[in-house]
Amino acid sequence: MRRKVIAGNWKMNMLPNEAMNFINALAERQGQEKTCEVILCVPYTDLFYSLLTAQNTPIKIGAQNMHWEERGAYTGEIAPEMLQCINVQYVIIGHSERRQYFAETDETVNKKVKAALAHELTPILCVGETLKQKEVGLAEEVITKQVELALGGLIAKQVEEVIIAYEPIWAIGTGKVATKEDANDAIKQIRNKIADLYGEETAQNVTILYGGSVNGKNAKELFSTSDIDGALVGGASLKVGEFEEIIKSI
Ligand code: 13P
Repeated sequence: MRRKVIAGNWKMNMLPNEAMNFINALAERQGQEKTCEVILCVPYTDLFYSLLTAQNTPIKIGAQNMHWEERGAYTGEIAPEMLQCINVQYVIIGHSERRQYFAETDETVNKKVKAALAHELTPILCVGETLKQKEVGLAEEVITKQVELALGGLIAKQVEEVIIAYEPIWAIGTGKVATKEDANDAIKQIRNKIADLYGEETAQNVTILYGGSVNGKNAKELFSTSDIDGALVGGASLKVGEFEEIIKSI
């Protein structure tokens, strides 16, 4: 059985007091119930508060980005060990907003995935096509290439530790969720690519999420498919009731 994951990506939202209130409220609603891994990827300034608040609850805390170098003259950046040493367990890598606004490339994404694994951080690797690429029939080529390049140099065992999130860019923050069939097909294409590169067993073991306008209403349908192992949730992860609905849907 593959692990099931519901991860929230708060993006550039939530002050520390809001983060702590959210985590307390979610923990209270959920209790110790654990049907899947629940992860909140919070801004850097919320990490420490969130980790303390989430102690003794099943909620896990992740970051949204990091640099790949160990240390050095990279003003404004955060190193993998800085996350590891405060017990962060997950880090989003290669989100489309970082690729689009902060010039992340497949090459830097690959470096970050390797650095995360080297520091016992689980990378949540994001891939996804633009609307234009989808319209001209390039979606499969784009997402499988992104996966191949991001995982380059890893061995099969390491690939199994990566959580992949298929997030079509046209579905992010638009309210236009992919159909369950399309999302499931894209995730199967990713799995097939991993099977080609690392073998069928690895492909069957790797957790792959869908992201893009997931909410409390559409989550159940998405999770009823063969290959969608959970969700990476943006906007709907900022409202505790809605996020709980998504968790309950898996
Ligand atoms: P939305 O759920 O707001 O569409 O965002 C998805 C996303 O980018 C998660 O990483």
